[in-house]
Amino acid sequence: MPKPTHSPIRLIDFPKIEDPRGNLTFIEQSRHIPFDIKRTYWIYDVPGGQKRGGHAYKTLHEVFIALSGSFDVVLYDGHEEKKYSLNRSYYGLYVPNMVWRSLENFSTNALCLILASGPYDEKEYIREIKNYEEQIGSNNQQS
Ligand code: TYD
Repeated sequence: MPKPTHSPIRLIDFPKIEDPRGNLTFIEQSRHIPFDIKRTYWIYDVPGGQKRGGHAYKTLHEVFIALSGSFDVVLYDGHEEKKYSLNRSYYGLYVPNMVWRSLENFSTNALCLILASGPYDEKEYIREIKNYEEQIGSNNQQS
């Protein structure tokens, strides 16, 4: 049965090179990301009021970055829910495996970049909240 990693949910600051010509931020996997990046994908053109996500991954780790605009990442660990508002391109939100995540409240022109520790694999997904709560051993399980 998959278990959450010991590496906690956290915000990761990236370098910010301020410049009157425009700022620059970069990511080096070995310095800034707590896993080997095997895939990147991005979410964009989200119509007002739409939500993305609504699942957990068995072993996959991800970092979310608001490259443009803003959105909220709502995380649920089987016990409590916490909302992270992302609105700057110089930090990211690290989310380990076995955390239920939803993305919502996208601004117009929001661009959400995601760095992932593995290739796309539908078998990684837990898409039913009840299955997730059973697997995580949640106290909130519905009978
Ligand atoms: P899904 O991960 O369910 O979207 P969300 O970000 O809202 O959780 O993916 C939606 C669809 O896109 C699904 O049919 C699988 C496909 N997909 C890929 O083919 N490759 C990918 O890297 C991702 C993330 C999704």
